[in-house]
Amino acid sequence: MKVLITGGAGFIASHIADEYINLGYDVFILDNLLTGFEQNINTKATFIKADICDKSLSKLFAEQRFDIVNHHAAQMDVRKSVADPAFDANTNIIGTINLLQNSVNFGIKKFIFSSTGGAVYGEQDYFPADEKHTTSPLSPYGISKLAVEKYLFFYNKQYGLNYSILRYANIYGPRQNPYGEAGVIAIFTSKLLAGEQPIINGDGKQTRDYVFVKDVVKANVKVLTDDKSDILNVGTGIETNVNEIFNTLNKIVDNGQVEKHGPVAPGEQLRSVITSDKFYKRHNWRPSTKLEVGLKETVNFFESKLVK
Ligand SMILES: NC(=O)c1ccc[n+]([C@@H]2O[C@H](COP(=O)([O-])OP(=O)(O)OC[C@H]3O[C@@H](n4cnc5c(N)ncnc54)[C@H](O)[C@@H]3O)[C@@H](O)[C@H]2O)c1
Repeated sequence: MKVLITGGAGFIASHIADEYINLGYDVFILDNLLTGFEQNINTKATFIKADICDKSLSKLFAEQRFDIVNHHAAQMDVRKSVADPAFDANTNIIGTINLLQNSVNFGIKKFIFSSTGGAVYGEQDYFPADEKHTTSPLSPYGISKLAVEKYLFFYNKQYGLNYSILRYANIYGPRQNPYGEAGVIAIFTSKLLAGEQPIINGDGKQTRDYVFVKDVVKANVKVLTDDKSDILNVGTGIETNVNEIFNTLNKIVDNGQVEKHGPVAPGEQLRSVITSDKFYKRHNWRPSTKLEVGLKETVNFFESKLVK
């Protein structure tokens, strides 16, 4: 089975590529290395350095005749999407349509899409949110992810393209980029290991639902054989605030830092938590890595990078 993984040089999809290769899939990684890194790319994968918006991708689809597309390449910085909505829409919507059109033209059997259970729901009416929660995205990033969900619905109805939409909570773990605006765990971990002081935005009581990347990989394996086109949340249903994240990491790293707060980040969502009950009912599985276990593994990874 041939799988095209977009964004496979990035954080989440590089782990998915590793596991698909372990399972015996013939993996092709397509990435323009905008935020991804060549060192994340599994050496057993075929790497294509290209942009998902590139019109000549049809040649690649025609030559390789992929069975599955797992689509993770994206502009995924919420603040950047606010500053430049057209760039966000071009990558996240136009680039994805390019993949969808090729998927239909060249007989793809399954299209897996990484959506977001934070930005798509917006400020929640109830906690944790299930897939029936209203979608009120508050950023161009959330809007572009929701738009692609709607395009998938269209491509399914019009052409019978089978899809799985995975609405991720906040994913963390080894290989997450600590230099971006998002990814508080990667940012705090790298600062603590460097002996620098992490600054918590506002009172630090804003909550998120943190899912370890290896759990996300399992979700991406489960849906490979799911023939029902549907939307599935990938979240733990557990809310953790930023102060708790800081204090747990601070204890693990043990570099003598103390909790320090800065100004509130404008427009930051207050609470976000989603349930995987639907995923559990369908596949008898939900994310299960305990936060402290995942955080330790994350710290170990960043520490090993420092030593090299
Ligand atoms: N990290 C999270 O908590 C989270 C939460 C919800 C959804 N997601 C989604 O999961 C996916 C992966 O996120 P990540 O955290 O691994 O981010 P990442 O930045 O590490 O990975 C994205 C990859 O896509 C590549 N890319 C970007 N634009 C491209 C383009 N035009 N053409 C080809 N490649 C391009 C980047 O170089 C990078 O390797 C994204 O779609 C993101 O929206 C992530």
